[in-house]
Amino acid sequence: MEKKNIDWSNLGFGYQVTDKRYVSNYKNGAWDDGVLTDEATITLSECAGVLQYAQTCFEGLKAYTTEDGRTVCFRPDLNASRMKDSCERLEMPVFPEDRFVEAVKAVVHANEAYVPPYGSGATLYIRPYMFGSSPVIGVKPAEEYQFRMFCTPVGPYFKGGAKPITIRVSDYDRAAPHGTGHIKAGLNYAMSLYQIVDAHEKGFDENMYLDAGSRTYVEETGGANFIFITKDGKMVTPKSDSILPSITRRSLMVVAEKYLGMTVEHRQVRFDELGDFAECGLCGTAAVISPVGKINDHGREICFPSGMDEMGPVTKKLYDTLTGIQMGRIEAPEGWIVEID
Ligand code: PLP
Ligand code: COI
Repeated sequence: MEKKNIDWSNLGFGYQVTDKRYVSNYKNGAWDDGVLTDEATITLSECAGVLQYAQTCFEGLKAYTTEDGRTVCFRPDLNASRMKDSCERLEMPVFPEDRFVEAVKAVVHANEAYVPPYGSGATLYIRPYMFGSSPVIGVKPAEEYQFRMFCTPVGPYFKGGAKPITIRVSDYDRAAPHGTGHIKAGLNYAMSLYQIVDAHEKGFDENMYLDAGSRTYVEETGGANFIFITKDGKMVTPKSDSILPSITRRSLMVVAEKYLGMTVEHRQVRFDELGDFAECGLCGTAAVISPVGKINDHGREICFPSGMDEMGPVTKKLYDTLTGIQMGRIEAPEGWIVEID
């Protein structure tokens, strides 16, 4: 397969149109067969449920070229299952999980020329999403839906790649207790835009959100979960009903324990214990593992001993092992790597 002429190593995390995307429509209580299409534009009713009441959710996963030249993706079954949870919470019809995984394979296969080469530092980001497409004016779920999936080659989410970033504690909340923080609803991201623009204007890379109920515990950032490393080498990661259950974080818990022999604690993390940690990182599909060097709490800085120059040593081991599994250099646990044929 001849690859597209793209400057892979200099890609940022942006959208570019690729050749094919998958579309399936839900009408009269059933999903149609679904097709791959060249059409990248959507025409919708002015009163579509997504436009009036934000009835939409999405997923994100990646495809990789392995060291031995195969094209693979990482744990797509978990994205299918998390999308099911999102749909159920938003009164949307579930797209069958087996068909979701088949659609991932079809989209990547049809856009194989855009899967970045091994070693380029880039990957193919796959974006499945669903929205209410029929008109809704009283507040209620739409009757018709569209499920779509496109892909786009991407580089690092944070400029500078593996360089430690600086985040600040947000004064606004991301997710209410008993709200929608645990699902991937578009509305969770709409309400974070003000904070991210403000953070960037003030020179910060991301926002740290605390629990909205007591502002005592660490939750997550706008697009990634946290991992912390203690001074004696344990991995600690926040537990809360209002954070998104990151697939990367769940995978790292296994990597830390089973591959690196570390102790893993998944528990509430108090904001006032952050100064005790040796390393901090953000983890997610887009973020992979991005080291955090500093957290700014209204002018007071929490500086991790790993510093602002490079990833801390334990974070680096986690990063190397996870990406080694994703790129086929290290044997993966059963079912984690799905080949695109
Ligand atoms: N938290 C939020 C709010 C996210 O948007 C994401 C991205 O998907 C994550 C965490 C990381 O999740 P995952 O590792 O499944 O990509
Ligand atoms: C992902 O990591 O896939 C996400 O959806 C995060 C988003 C902020 C880009």
